Amino acid sequence: MITYSEKNRTIKLDTPGTSYVLGIREGGFLLNLYYGRRLPDDNLWPLAKRLNSASFSPCDPDDTSFSADVAPMEYPTNGRGDFRVSALAVRGKDGNSVTDLRYVSHRIFAGKPDLPGLPHLYVTDDSQCDTLEVTLRDPYTGLEAVLVYTAFCDCDVIAKHVRLTNRGGKEVKLERAFSSCVDLPCMDYDLITLWGRHVKERQLERRPLAHGLQGIQSKRGSSSHSHNPFAALAHSGATETAGDVYGFNLVYSGNFAITAEVDHDATTRVIMGIAPTDFCWLLAPGESFVTPEAVHVFSAEGLGGMSRTFHRCYDEHLIRGRWKKEKRPLLINSWEAAYFDFDTDKLISFAERAKELGIEMLVMDDGWFGKRNDDTNSLGDWFINEKKLDLGRLVDTVHAMGLKFGIWYEPEMISPDSELFRAHPDWCVHVPGRTPSIARQQYVLDVSRADVRENVFSQMRDVLGRYPIDYVKWDFNRNISEAGSALLPPERSGEFFHRFVLGTYELQDRLTREFPDLLLENCSGGGGRFDPGMLYYSPQIWTSDNTDPIERLNIQFGTSLCYPASVMGAHVSACSRTGYRTKGDVALWGTFGYELDPNKLSDDEREIVKEQVGEYHKYYSLIHEGSLYRLISPWDNAFVCAWSFVSEDRRDALVTVVRIREQDNTLFRLKLQGLDADAIYTVEETGERFSGALLMFAGLEMTDCARHDGESCKLHLIAE
Ligand code: GLA
Repeated sequence: MITYSEKNRTIKLDTPGTSYVLGIREGGFLLNLYYGRRLPDDNLWPLAKRLNSASFSPCDPDDTSFSADVAPMEYPTNGRGDFRVSALAVRGKDGNSVTDLRYVSHRIFAGKPDLPGLPHLYVTDDSQCDTLEVTLRDPYTGLEAVLVYTAFCDCDVIAKHVRLTNRGGKEVKLERAFSSCVDLPCMDYDLITLWGRHVKERQLERRPLAHGLQGIQSKRGSSSHSHNPFAALAHSGATETAGDVYGFNLVYSGNFAITAEVDHDATTRVIMGIAPTDFCWLLAPGESFVTPEAVHVFSAEGLGGMSRTFHRCYDEHLIRGRWKKEKRPLLINSWEAAYFDFDTDKLISFAERAKELGIEMLVMDDGWFGKRNDDTNSLGDWFINEKKLDLGRLVDTVHAMGLKFGIWYEPEMISPDSELFRAHPDWCVHVPGRTPSIARQQYVLDVSRADVRENVFSQMRDVLGRYPIDYVKWDFNRNISEAGSALLPPERSGEFFHRFVLGTYELQDRLTREFPDLLLENCSGGGGRFDPGMLYYSPQIWTSDNTDPIERLNIQFGTSLCYPASVMGAHVSACSRTGYRTKGDVALWGTFGYELDPNKLSDDEREIVKEQVGEYHKYYSLIHEGSLYRLISPWDNAFVCAWSFVSEDRRDALVTVVRIREQDNTLFRLKLQGLDADAIYTVEETGERFSGALLMFAGLEMTDCARHDGESCKLHLIAE
């Protein structure tokens, strides 16, 4: 709900449990008066009494009681007396980047508008949210900023983005154009971020805020393995189960920055959006630029509460299409089973064995196109390698067995050794006069260009339109250097990175529109582009190339901070660190599948796989629609890790425990969360009966479960 008080000149955005309050001050300054737990008050100006400071903070020339350097600014600009990090810097024709935005008008309406060309949260009915648009204008350059906010009615989420339009008569350059800013009145927070690298994605890091600048960014051309476009500010004492936490996530797959600054007054500013490094956007008179959308969550119930809000929101308001609600097929992927070494018969043999095990889809990974038998060539040549493969026979045979069939693509790449590169050497991302750097033997294809996109899409359409293919795995296996396009004039070269991302979005949009039944899974060397932008097009993303179940604990715990189980690609592989039971128990926390040669399974392993397939079906709705409770995190405990899924009505729960390292003779009681204290639960595996209160407050005695290194155990609780 969004309400405007004419008397107080405040706008209040309420979600079920949070309030976000803007104040319009004399002079047209837009302030952030409050963000946090929901409040009933309609006048929050007393929270912003102190709006000027010592002489070193410049004041508004028309009102010396106001200094933007001290005030909680809603969308702070550069060079006009606020010396903290700014959200917007616009350089005019006269050469300076002083930017000053003042309130013009606002409007409130039900529903949520689309962001053209950009992924975003959506609603299916206007009654699910309210939207506020506040129009600000720089009186000198004529730049107009429309700040767009959506407050959701079914979850504690506020989405924000900004539409910038040049209403002046001269060209301007956007040198930074962030999506959002939040100014908080203290610095007693820990900054939580997810760092990583290939095969070690989304590792949680928590550090107390310190004076000055801190934060994360990507300049790799993708959101990247190195940092996820997510951050949380957890009140210093906040834990998994209690305390105030703000969660921030950017719906974007390219270069981003999330920056926190603590100033000399110990206030904290958080901005997030496109990274200003390597970004500059020219706006001719009349032109507009739309920033990506930023998602904000506040929870007074610790990190667990924050995560569950993100999960519910993304399952409901981000994931789209047929596969939003439809059960995803349990797949087997050929990559770790065969790498490039396969042919039609080998893949058919995988499908035959998979069918016997109850697996529902075969995915043919890298190596089916051009002349590709290793990673040195053929990206860009998206036609079937007929020497290696009879795709028609393969798809028909697999379908005749009742299995679905999927295929791998890497559409944003081009191999120097490819027909496409020989025909169009200027189609790779490059800058004049420099030979592009090479990574994994490949260049990046310039999908910022419409003609290039047309070519790659029509090649994909030839294959996907000719064969009944059910699934595409869309990969992205290097980062972008020498960022430039042959078509961009020098004065627009700072636009390249964002135009590239828009090109990728357009391609994925086209693919999912033309093939609406296709299940799309994104991937980037595992989870190198695991962000809400990609999730708008694909309901699942391959979480990591690391399928070791113990390593996966940290990766999946980190990923779960803001991404739901329904989107996390998790497969059982042949890796030897633990037995198959643990591998399956860990992979069940995700979209589930196999990444191995099914011909090589022993009889015992085949039996375990059949049981796992049964469990996948049995627990599918609980895991995909239930709430996640992280019970013991691998960041806090080196020995044991545990999590659970609880159904919405709290009558059904699945608890999983993994012993990371054996701990002799140590008593282990596991306290559960999220149950109904008054209900009596039966443990399906043992027949024991306990109250929800006992399970949550005394804990379940589990000393003898999963005792040895790498063992796991699952308990299914059903309320009577
Ligand atoms: C990436 C993916 C893998 C596999 C290979 C194929 O690394 O993460 O799963 O698809 O590419 O080259």
